[in-house]
Amino acid sequence: MDRYAVFGNPIGQSKSPFIHTQFAEQCQQQLSYEAILAPVDAFADSWQTFVAQGGCGANVTAPFKQQAYQLADSVSERAKLAGAVNTFYFDESGKLHGDNTDGIGLVNDLQRLGINLNACRILLLGAGGASRGVVGPLLDAGVSQVVLANRTPEKAHSIAASFDSRVLACGFAQIPHQPYPLVINATSSGLSHQRPDIAGEHLQHTELAYDMSYAAQPTAFMSWSKQQGAKQQVDGLGMLVAQAAEAFYIWRGKKPDIAPVLTRLKQQLA
Ligand code: ATR
Repeated sequence: MDRYAVFGNPIGQSKSPFIHTQFAEQCQQQLSYEAILAPVDAFADSWQTFVAQGGCGANVTAPFKQQAYQLADSVSERAKLAGAVNTFYFDESGKLHGDNTDGIGLVNDLQRLGINLNACRILLLGAGGASRGVVGPLLDAGVSQVVLANRTPEKAHSIAASFDSRVLACGFAQIPHQPYPLVINATSSGLSHQRPDIAGEHLQHTELAYDMSYAAQPTAFMSWSKQQGAKQQVDGLGMLVAQAAEAFYIWRGKKPDIAPVLTRLKQQLA
């Protein structure tokens, strides 16, 4: 049976084995998918051991996405823009390719939610790995402007330097005063049950406040954005399933249906 896995540290909470097992059933694919806890200083060894044991491909999560980028023989354009790899696969000649499906996962999830990204202006909060990975795919989807705001403005400027003038970097206090139909929280503030400290007025005309993180309860950012007038609030569970679906497609050539898997995940979290 073809073996796949997700590598991370920690990895115990990963939903990926559940998601890919559901996809495999749905698409009638014979495969196994496991979670592998790689030692923080031995990701490459852990991956090589898996390959030696017949591993065909993998997902890579924190803190190894940049190391995966270095390890691949070649990387996709979107992985280059992200500076990170979340999906490994081999070609027929045995070359190891690195791709990044996080950004397209977000775009697909936003489209599933009925957001028209064409000519849309987005306020993107945070300038870590999560943010860097989604800017390119959002621009490719037709977004007219990404205002990339970060608590530490220098990091936002460093990401914006990889893109054209459609990406505007700033600190939280310098966010331009204009309507933002879509506001995305790509900071890790939710891990400490906090929200990015921006002025509430930026969400007054917001159709969708999207938090790339998720939890059993609405995140601090979701609850707060509702109070500020954002019409709809969504967490990042859909993005998680959608990025997994893109990886599954790379490996198996089949596009799984996201909706039933998302429903089951929500039931599990509740
Ligand atoms: P990830 O890979 O998840 O993006 P990261 O690279 O460590 O993680 O980046 C975390 C991001 O969340 C950064 O943009 C960070 O802001 P700083 O660059 O100023 O550190 C942001 N972040 C974390 N906690 C935050 C908080 N409480 N408020 C605002 N931003 C926060």
